Amino acid sequence: MELLDGKKISNEIKEEITVEVTAMKERGEKVPHLAAVLVGNDGASLTYVGSKVRSCKKIGFESTLIHLPEETTEEALLQKVRELNNDDDIDGYIVQLPLPKHIDEEKVLMAVDPDKDVDGFHPVNFGKMALDMDTFISATPYGIMELLRRYKVDTEGKHAVVIGRSHIVGRPMSILMSQKGDAANCTVTLTHSRTKNIKELTLQADIVVSALGVPHFLKADMVKEGAVIIDVGITRVPDDSKERGYFLTGDVDFEQVSKKASFITPVPGGVGPMTIAMLLKNTLLARERHRNKG
Ligand code: GUN
Repeated sequence: MELLDGKKISNEIKEEITVEVTAMKERGEKVPHLAAVLVGNDGASLTYVGSKVRSCKKIGFESTLIHLPEETTEEALLQKVRELNNDDDIDGYIVQLPLPKHIDEEKVLMAVDPDKDVDGFHPVNFGKMALDMDTFISATPYGIMELLRRYKVDTEGKHAVVIGRSHIVGRPMSILMSQKGDAANCTVTLTHSRTKNIKELTLQADIVVSALGVPHFLKADMVKEGAVIIDVGITRVPDDSKERGYFLTGDVDFEQVSKKASFITPVPGGVGPMTIAMLLKNTLLARERHRNKG
């Protein structure tokens, strides 16, 4: 079994980006500027956004955190989005999900300028991704593809089973893995909550991507010997013995499944750090596009 070490690969990617940012600075150019909008005080979102902003600082990007109160109205958020679209200093930005229930997420995502949509959530970008066109690819699926590429995992003609059909992970993952190219060319089965025979399907899988958010859902008796296991789940399990009051766990019963897997991602330290690295890569791309547009 080989660990797909997302922490290590994400550090490599961040170092590569740092080299580019340093060169930009030396040429006297403006460095990429990422903004992140967070509405409310969801614990996991605060952690993720904090981590994104800190990573920007570490690699030499500019970053701005816009933290709005839980009771922010939909119109006020849309106004903030319009401001960010028109702010020439901001190259790319994200609106952290989930949003509070009183705000229509779709309406907000539709208002984001596709050229600044470094999350790749806007239908223009999602559509381009699905049509093999060059665009911003959502950071988590992009990170998984990059992890498979850098470990040279053989995916050619393999059966990939994706668990979960979310717009952010499962759905784009199923599309990317079925496309032509490196770490792709798979035959894909996309499973979800209404799938009847999930174990029958995962047992046939050469690659399993689990993006369900149910701790230890994928057990050893559900995977075949030598399978590649990608665990996207990051669930906080309450634990009073921990200083922060919880521990993080994935969808995969790592201890047992790792005995059968050829490659497996740990949680934490697998897909999570890759998501941040690819968001930074998208921000660098946004800067380049912005500069070229003039
Ligand atoms: N919530 C969970 N994952 C993500 C992500 O990649 N981007 C944003 N904006 N929100 C998220």
